[in-house]
Amino acid sequence: MNAPLGRLASRRGLLRWAALGVAVLAPACAAAEPVREIVMHRDPGCGCCLAWMAHIEQSGRFQTSILDERDMPALKQRLRVPNDLVSCHTAEVAGFVVEGHVPAEDVLRLLRGQPRGIIGLAVPGMPLGSPGMEQEGDAARQAFDVLAFRPDGGREVFARYAART
Ligand code: CU
Ligand code: CU
Repeated sequence: MNAPLGRLASRRGLLRWAALGVAVLAPACAAAEPVREIVMHRDPGCGCCLAWMAHIEQSGRFQTSILDERDMPALKQRLRVPNDLVSCHTAEVAGFVVEGHVPAEDVLRLLRGQPRGIIGLAVPGMPLGSPGMEQEGDAARQAFDVLAFRPDGGREVFARYAART
């Protein structure tokens, strides 16, 4: 009678320690970087936006939602996306703007670094092979830059992606 109970108690003890271990270790990794809410505005007729959203979701670092918009140009203007940096969809995350097919890792780096004066990232146009613009069974990629932009339209290169054949 006593032995099984004792075993049960010690197993419970182990579980408790395991739970504690998770609680102690978690802040060092996952919890230090919270899951962020990202809202993507898109034209309902566009499909590559959804493919980009799938890429963002795959990172496991974002909680995503989608808003269909009638007037994307007006929205981009309101969010101060420079005219010459526009793409299809426009997302908002933690007060930053993400224009076009920006890789998830760059969005995460932006959120970690919070660079001064920067209001968003953009991948202008629709570069082939950028996240959400891949062609099935083809790893080819056009070279593209991720640009960090300021409210006055100024910008700098945030990341570079080389062409791949
Ligand atoms: Cu697109
Ligand atoms: Cu699109």
